[in-house]
Amino acid sequence: MGDIYDNIIELAKRRGYIWPSAECYGSVAGFIDYGPLGAMMKRKVENIWRYFYVIKEGYYEIECPTVGTEDIYLASGHVKGFADKMCQCPNCGEYLRADHVATAHGIENAEILSAEELQEVLKGLPCPSCKEVFRDISVFDFNLMFQTTIGPGSQRKGYLRPETAQGIFTDFNRLLRFYRDKLPFGAVQIGKSYRNEISPRQGMIRLREFTQAEAEIFIHPEHKQHPRFAVYADYTIPLWGIEQQETHSEPLMSSMKDAVAKGLIANEYVAYYIALTHELLVTLGVNPAKLRFRQHLPDERAHYAVDCWDAEIFSERFGWVEAVGIADRTDYDLRAHAKASGDSFSVFVPYDKPQTVTRKRVVPDMGALGPKFRKQAKAVADALIAAEPGDDGAEITIDGETHIIPAECYKVHEETIEVRGEDVRPHVIEPSYGIDRIIYTILEHAYEEDDVDGEVRKVLHLRPEVAPVQVAVFPLMARDNLDDMAHEITTSLQKAHILAQYDDNGAIGRRYRRQDEIGTPFAVTIDYESLEEQTVTLRDRDSMEQVRIPVTKLAGLISDLIDGTTTFTDLNQNS
Ligand code: GAP
Repeated sequence: MGDIYDNIIELAKRRGYIWPSAECYGSVAGFIDYGPLGAMMKRKVENIWRYFYVIKEGYYEIECPTVGTEDIYLASGHVKGFADKMCQCPNCGEYLRADHVATAHGIENAEILSAEELQEVLKGLPCPSCKEVFRDISVFDFNLMFQTTIGPGSQRKGYLRPETAQGIFTDFNRLLRFYRDKLPFGAVQIGKSYRNEISPRQGMIRLREFTQAEAEIFIHPEHKQHPRFAVYADYTIPLWGIEQQETHSEPLMSSMKDAVAKGLIANEYVAYYIALTHELLVTLGVNPAKLRFRQHLPDERAHYAVDCWDAEIFSERFGWVEAVGIADRTDYDLRAHAKASGDSFSVFVPYDKPQTVTRKRVVPDMGALGPKFRKQAKAVADALIAAEPGDDGAEITIDGETHIIPAECYKVHEETIEVRGEDVRPHVIEPSYGIDRIIYTILEHAYEEDDVDGEVRKVLHLRPEVAPVQVAVFPLMARDNLDDMAHEITTSLQKAHILAQYDDNGAIGRRYRRQDEIGTPFAVTIDYESLEEQTVTLRDRDSMEQVRIPVTKLAGLISDLIDGTTTFTDLNQNS
């Protein structure tokens, strides 16, 4: 069959799925265009994602700008830390991702090595571009964000978003009100993200502009039991935990219930979204035998994250590819934005029953503070109200300076109050999907070449839900009213919201091959019997079986076949 990646890319370009962007100007690595079929398939993939997260989970979708001000990315830590390790070949001048060069030479976990460690590792390895051996090479950080300026005069720095997540975090206070101030709640976003990848050579796997579908689920930090965990408690899938990776063992087949009980997965929320992700990817057409979940190693995991798992999909060309990350990010993002913006980023959570507490209240004595602190007396009084005095006075800080205020400057009253609840900073569970990587792997897993009557048949076994064209309509001949009837049938299918494509070009066998190649799951043929009997043949792409169907039932049956309420085998048995 040759190299499957080359075959898919050739098919994708020729038939209008995907091609390099702006080819007439030579194209730049990391940018692709979705052609007519690719754009259609992408929308379908995104809409199935929406079905899972927006309709079934009930998390509303928002849409934020792709350009963000510098404040956002200073607070999130991207300005300081969103960088890859880069080196430049001293011989040919090519910029290279240092960890990728090391990985290509069998160095394990190269992505977690420091710049100094990578420098040592790279010495003696050949440059992947010019093959000259590196003698001395420096490795440094390269920030992946695309920088821009906002408005004329270049006064305000901005960045193209490197993830859609930050829009959801910065909208937290408004979303909280939208969800009537109650946890848990979630919001999702599907859109473009941008990363100035150092030397992207992996087609759709590493892009500089790509589509993410992210959900941010805000939960009480002490309530990490998912209310609908029972849905996936027995869902059993391959989990490649830290221990299995360290001992070079195979992934464990485990139910979500067992994985949480044994502490393999940190909590029910993370487990729930691992299982949901598995179900979603398989629904989209990822081969379950080529899908596993890998836990981040402690060195690889962000320091604030409690647990993080990647859905990895196997590709013949690229090996195991990370397509989705599922993380418990704790309160890191909300805390960072609260600190930088001064907004609350917390939720008032009422207690089941109000609690009575006794507390000390400091009452400043302005008569004593005035002469002692003069202009600063008001600031000292304000600071005292929030202070916790000890036996030797109360320690306060004003303009960075610490003062001990003697006890004669204030009085302490004890009071009993009723407390109705507390302010809580939620934790965030984040399933984050890369749509382009998923689309590439769906195409790869769907691609097959088989032999039909001594000829190679290229076929994309796409699921009917994601196939761009759902049914092809062929008149046996483009004459004798067969073409008129085929046009009428095409229109009636389109009225039923089915994407039907009329085709009368060439021999019928050729037309089947063309549709098989783009993954059209069903084809309808109108022949002379159709004119007499008002019946047509319906052909199934995968089995190549055919069944005769009354025209009046066609649209309903095709809709049922697309949404899976009936199968071709059922149709065959009932015909
Ligand atoms: N908010 C978390 C986040 O962005 P990530 O692991 O950096 O996490 C999530 O990205 C997903 O986005 C990845 O699992 C991958 O599928 C996709 N992705 C990341 N960088 C990409 C790139 N350069 N090209 C294509 N997809 C990419």
